[in-house]
Amino acid sequence: MKGNLKGIILAGGTASRLMPLTKVTNKHLLPVGRIPMIYHSINKLQSAGIEEILIVTGVNHMGDVVSLLGSGKDFNCKFTYKVQDEAGGIAQALALAENFAGSDPVAVILGDNIFEDPMSNYLKDFDGEGAHIILKEVHDPQRFGVAEIKGKNVVNIEEKPQSPRTNMAVTGIYFYDAEVYNIIRKLKPSARGEYEISDVNNHYIESNKMSYSNMQGWWSDAGTFESLEKVQKLIEEAPPK
Ligand code: DAU
Repeated sequence: MKGNLKGIILAGGTASRLMPLTKVTNKHLLPVGRIPMIYHSINKLQSAGIEEILIVTGVNHMGDVVSLLGSGKDFNCKFTYKVQDEAGGIAQALALAENFAGSDPVAVILGDNIFEDPMSNYLKDFDGEGAHIILKEVHDPQRFGVAEIKGKNVVNIEEKPQSPRTNMAVTGIYFYDAEVYNIIRKLKPSARGEYEISDVNNHYIESNKMSYSNMQGWWSDAGTFESLEKVQKLIEEAPPK
């Protein structure tokens, strides 16, 4: 690995799809299994040997997030916090990591993505340069970023297409080199007014610097009532590794 891989957990957003559960608390503090949702992302990064983790969340619930997690001492890692003033998209939240990460590569987890595989499965496929994404076949691709593959390459990602060309969803686990901040600076907001992570990924694809792996174990987001319920069942059947 080129550089010292750092971890980023994106835990902002409005979580409007989980109202009223998220009226007075952050989605990532809701229980998933016997622990708060955000513990799952921390456990993944920490068990992959990542010691420095940045947590990005919104103004409303930063206090609660810090009260829960503290300095990181209890998790054997070191937390840094950044406030995202408004939910302007995943790429906008990631841009806040620039000073924290410096020239080091980053492993980014969307805080509402819960998955079974150990992170180490993907680390071996990312050498610290370019970008790396993890794909998983799903039955409802229109809810996700959807990847088109030719041979060994991802050739295009479409964000929430109405007529998906494949059923390969882009999961919320991403690896980037420090070029990512320059790419985000050039982005324009999408039709839904957000800085999209799929636009970032398409930039890496265009410059032939994107690789991918397939996720082996189960994966789900937990951002809707249906997916949150599904995750609770998956965790009971096969706890994350
Ligand atoms: O779950 C994987 C999917 O996540 C990908 O397939 C999509 O390409 C990607 O755009 C994203 O889709 P969603 O629309 O489901 O993302 P959502 O808005 O639910 O945000 C996911 C997480 O990102 C959420 O747990 C908090 C964080 N987030 C989101 C936004 C919009 C932030 O930290 N700040 C934000 O402004």
